[in-house]
This record gives sequence, structure tokens and C-alpha cells, in this order.
Amino acid sequence: MDPLDAFPPLRWGIFSTGRIAGVFARGVATTRTGRVVAVGSRTPENAARFAAEHGIAPTGAHGSYEALLADPGVEAVYIATPHPEHVAWVERAAAAGKHILCEKPAGMNLAEGRRMVTAARRAGVLFMEAFMYRCHPQTTRIAALVRSGAIGRVRLVQASFGFRAEYSPASRLWSRALGGGGILDVGGYPMSFARWIAGAAAGGVEAFADPVEVTGVGRLHPETGVDEWAAAGVRFADGLVAQLATGVGLALDNQARVFGTEGWIEVPHPWIITRGGGALDFRLHRRGAGAPETITTEAGNLYGLEAAEFAAVLRAGGGAVPAMTPEDTLGNLAALDRWRAAIGLVYPADGAGAVGASG
Ligand SMILES: NC(=O)c1ccc[n+]([C@@H]2O[C@H](COP(=O)([O-])OP(=O)(O)OC[C@H]3O[C@@H](n4cnc5c(N)ncnc54)[C@H](OP(=O)(O)O)[C@@H]3O)[C@@H](O)[C@H]2O)c1
Repeated sequence: MDPLDAFPPLRWGIFSTGRIAGVFARGVATTRTGRVVAVGSRTPENAARFAAEHGIAPTGAHGSYEALLADPGVEAVYIATPHPEHVAWVERAAAAGKHILCEKPAGMNLAEGRRMVTAARRAGVLFMEAFMYRCHPQTTRIAALVRSGAIGRVRLVQASFGFRAEYSPASRLWSRALGGGGILDVGGYPMSFARWIAGAAAGGVEAFADPVEVTGVGRLHPETGVDEWAAAGVRFADGLVAQLATGVGLALDNQARVFGTEGWIEVPHPWIITRGGGALDFRLHRRGAGAPETITTEAGNLYGLEAAEFAAVLRAGGGAVPAMTPEDTLGNLAALDRWRAAIGLVYPADGAGAVGASG
């Protein structure tokens, strides 16, 4: 018997009725270890609609986020508001004693990340930034291959995540007030991947490593000032370097490649590996071996994996979710701050001089 079966399912409350909130609710529904029991929205109508869609009892449909936090039936919250709203709700959720899975980027910058981690530690609640790809066995397998030396010493990581959304100043993706732009929306994926691979290559106790240098170039939108597309050059302590790219105004190949002295790993689907579950391949090219080896990993719903991992850590006594620890979150936010500083991308949340100073 799975030891988790001894526990009742983790009772989730979802902050917001937006796009990813629904995807997450469907993910939780695929697990045995969690159940969505409540939703909070700025409008009671949207809360009621979401509740009906996702099998949440009407008593769990809250017309404000405050009411969701006051619901004693909720053990853990999933925060899926636009990024600038994350920090205040993480702090309030921690104060209310709720465990927290917060969408990426956890904070707008390192300073906000530190506030979140401090609040969670003070309250003794579990906190995780929702980089769901880290919970997929493909990601773990790639890191294990790197650790085992399968491609020798890792020298270069290339990774991108970008898509082309039509310009609309009110959209969260393009609005400076709502934290729009590529680096914060999806640039955190390639950055966190490079840091994860650098950690595996270093072979130390940490799953990640932080860069010693981050340079960047990017194009800022002439009206809203958010980054339409951007590239980064990242260097780690042992000479490992990474080329990263992102954008909300440009579709990219959304792939990752890890090059070492004895071969390379080619990852066609590093982020949305199999959203609804299933099998996917990546390839290991060993130097001098001819045809690459195809490696298949198979898993369930990507968001269900994340929710299940969170629940498992919590039921085992808490601490941190190894796939994305608070220290990892802070390192990623620091690196994103440096990327943004390199291209002059500033948000109201940064205040005077916050970005760049924090890296
Ligand atoms: N991990 C992933 O795969 C993934 C994918 C997409 C997005 N995300 C992250 O999840 C977060 C939400 O993204 P999304 O694409 O779901 O956004 P979205 O569709 O625009 O939904 C955001 C929701 O947040 C609530 N909200 C609270 N304050 C708001 C404000 N000032 N303006 C607008 N909406 C506000 C709204 O819900 P109510 O009206 O119900 O309150 C809204 O529906 C972002 O941080 C994003 O980076 C993660």
C-alpha cells in the first residue's frame, strides 16, 4: 500500500479562476492525494462558475480571496493570479496557516521572493514555486544522466521558451502593471533549467547552481516597455555557459540541449512535457556512438504530478519540495533580476534601484 493512502487527500483552495487555475484543478483531479475543495475569485459569479465546472461544492465558492483564506476546510492554496499579486497573497496565506504552491515567477524580483520565503518559514508552512516541469520524471532523468557523466563534462546549455501572443495592452502578457513580458512569464523556465543542469554537473548537494555572470539583450515594447523577446548569456563557476531565449512576442523552438565533452542531450519538449499525461522521448547522443539513444519517460498529468509531489512532501512532514526548493526559487529570481537589469526592464514592483542591486 502507498503510505500516502493512510492520509486523507490534501484539501486545495485555488486563488483565481484564470486559465492556469482551471488546468491545475483538472490536474489535481487526476491524483489520489489531493482534492480541490474551494476556489476564490474577485467576483462571486466567476467563483460559482469555476466551482460548478470543477466539482467544488457551492460552499467552497468564495467571492473574494480573503474568504478563501478564511475557509477552515482549505489546507493548501494554489496561487494563480498575475505575478504582481503573488507576494501579498503568499504572505497572507502563510499568516493564515495555509501551505502554498505559488505560480511562477513566485515574485516579481528577488526582494519579493525573500519576503515569501520568510513568511512561509515564520508560519511553518510548505512553500513551492510551481515550476511543474521539475516534477516530471523526464527532468529528473536528464539531471541523473548529467550527474552520471553520460555526456562527460557539461560545457553548454541551450534552452528557449517563447510564444507569439498578439499585442493587446490590457493583456497580462503585455501589461507592465501586471508583470507582462517574456522574461518573467516564461524566461524562468530556461533559466531554471540551466541552473538545474549546472547543479547536476557540479554534483554537489544542491540540485541547482547559481550563475556567476548573466548578460542579456532584448527588445522592449515601445508602448508598454515589457520585453517582447530577449536572450541571455549565462556563465557558471566551472566554465559551463548557457544561451537562453524567451519572448511573448516571438514563437521559439521551445527546446533544450545540453552539450558535454562526451556527447549531448536533445530535449524536444522540456517544459510542457505531456500536459495530460503520456509518454515522450528525448535523445542521448554519445560521442562516436552513431545513432542517438532514444529515452522515453511516461507519466501522468503534469500538474497532477506537481500537486502529488507537494502533497507527498507535506504528508511526510514538510520541509521543502526537492524539485523546487525555496533556495532554488531565490536563485532563479536573482538570475532573472540580472537578466532584466541587463536589458533595462523595470516594473513598478522593483521600486528605486531594486533590480540589479539584488543579483
Ligand atoms: N505553470 C504553468 O504552466 C503556467 C501557465 C500559465 C500561467 N502561469 C502563471 O499563472 C499565473 C496566472 O496566469 P494565467 O495565464 O492563468 O492568467 P489569467 O488567465 O489572466 O488569469 C489570472 C486570474 O487572476 C485573477 N486576478 C487577480 N488579480 C488580477 C488582476 N489585477 N488582473 C487580472 N486578473 C487578476 C483573475 O481571476 P479572478 O477574476 O477569478 O479573481 C484572473 O482570471 C501567472 O503568474 C503565470 O505566470 C503558469
